[in-house]
Amino acid sequence: MILSTDPLRLGGAALLCCAWLALSARAWRTHARRSRVDRTPADWLVLHASQTGNAEALAERTVQLLATGGLAARSASMASLDAALPAGATRVLFIASTYGEGDAPDAAARFAGTAMAATAMAATTMAAGADLRHLHYAVLALGDRNYANFCGFGRALDAWLAQQGATRLFDCIEVDHGDARALAEWQHQVGRLAGTADAPDWEAPAYGAWRIAERAPLNPGSAGEPLYRLALVPAEGVLPDWEAGDLAQVSAPDDPGHPREYSIASIPSEGRLDLLVRLQRRADGSPGAASSWLCAGAGKDDLVRLRLRAHQRFRLGDNARRPLIAIGNGSGLAGLRALLMARRQLDVRDNWLLFGERNAAHDFLLRDELEAWRAAGWLARLDLAFSRDQPERRYVQHLLREHATQVADWVGRGAAIYVCGSLQGMAGGVHAALADILGEAALDALAAQGRYRRDVY
Ligand SMILES: Cc1cc2nc3c(=O)[nH]c(=O)nc-3n(C[C@H](O)[C@H](O)[C@H](O)COP(=O)(O)OP(=O)(O)OC[C@H]3O[C@@H](n4cnc5c(N)ncnc54)[C@H](O)[C@@H]3O)c2cc1C
Ligand SMILES: Cc1cc2nc3c(=O)[nH]c(=O)nc-3n(C[C@H](O)[C@H](O)[C@H](O)COP(=O)(O)O)c2cc1C
Repeated sequence: MILSTDPLRLGGAALLCCAWLALSARAWRTHARRSRVDRTPADWLVLHASQTGNAEALAERTVQLLATGGLAARSASMASLDAALPAGATRVLFIASTYGEGDAPDAAARFAGTAMAATAMAATTMAAGADLRHLHYAVLALGDRNYANFCGFGRALDAWLAQQGATRLFDCIEVDHGDARALAEWQHQVGRLAGTADAPDWEAPAYGAWRIAERAPLNPGSAGEPLYRLALVPAEGVLPDWEAGDLAQVSAPDDPGHPREYSIASIPSEGRLDLLVRLQRRADGSPGAASSWLCAGAGKDDLVRLRLRAHQRFRLGDNARRPLIAIGNGSGLAGLRALLMARRQLDVRDNWLLFGERNAAHDFLLRDELEAWRAAGWLARLDLAFSRDQPERRYVQHLLREHATQVADWVGRGAAIYVCGSLQGMAGGVHAALADILGEAALDALAAQGRYRRDVY
């Protein structure tokens, strides 16, 4: 063996050796760190109970804020919970909206109906409830003071957690209609937990300027309030992207601080953003601020301040190619139409629309289009309930009961059920009919799988 005695070559070899050792050590350290992170559960869990996505979006921001402080955090929907909180979770932040009349949103209905209800029952029987003494938590409750039971679900959740022995990190923060000051307080408290006081304030996404390209009455002569189809286009630039199921928020000039939500009725490839807006009357007979402006006040030269809101819970998602049972009434046809258009674009024909309104003569909204879709096979079935065309009232929930066998067949074939329109009357009646046809547990399971989705207001 010939060993080189050349000092230059020896030095070079030594340097190479050191470099290799350093690289190997770094690779090993990186590997060790990665496997440690993978095996370590998140320090913080952020659970959201959201209907239209506000709580979900705030949960994402909360996770990011914790992460800026170096804390491992993840968010999850309360829909992913069974009857209890995850056993290993010791630090949980809850972001909870309220729906109906002080109720939990659909995503948390199962948790509220099992875990929280079980405790209420245990209290009456003197049995022990859940033991959450290991848990540290805080609640951000989203709501709207115009409803009688302000932040009802968030408050109930906060009280229930304390009652189970969990430790409150700070008092429940209540947010009235997206109130920026309350959100800043949450951000401050979470920032304190994360050890970061200098994060910039969360800002709501900016409005864009849109114009009304077309406004057509959809129910002339109706016994109900007038309903219009509005086609909107950006005042400048290109049409932004959205998905069927998403919402548009409109800020009306008379009430700029309180945007109103509208289900989008079209898909981007149509080149326009359509809304179906019902002119709303308040209890005292005066016209609603946003709907009257959109339906009558705003002219072609007025700018409409509008922003798009992703509504994950009402998008097609994994249901894009499943059979679809679309159920709705009145302006609820907006969200359903967008879903059906998206299916048409995908060439999926397995669609059943059940729609209800007052009188066929005046309220058969988008009649030409729906009948053409039925004739061309884009709608496999179209069933209509006109409540006032016969002596007894007849609604979409009656259609479901009349076609119970077919509803069960479609669900058996893997169908997803989407409901859009009135919360009062329609959504509850439809839910009760579906629960009777499919069974309460099966309906809960469909909701948990994302096969029963609602956009009801
Ligand atoms: C998810 C969702 C989707 C919807 N989709 C549609 C749709 O596709 N088509 C449709 O016609 N409608 C839809 N709506 C209803 C719509 O958002 C409006 O509520 C409706 O148009 C009436 O608004 P308005 O401003 O005309 O009436 P208003 O009576 O002026 O306001 C309606 C509500 O806004 C709140 N409000 C009013 N003023 C204030 C204030 N100063 N501060 C705080 N809150 C205030 C109150 O809760 C009031 O009851 C939807 C609602 C939701 C939540
Ligand atoms: C149909 C409907 C019913 C509501 N009911 C209540 C209520 O009873 N109490 C309340 O405080 N807020 C109520 N709200 C307001 C929501 O909780 C609030 O808008 C919240 O920000 C929605 O958040 P999300 O997008 O996460 O679902 C209701 C909203 C709607 C559309």
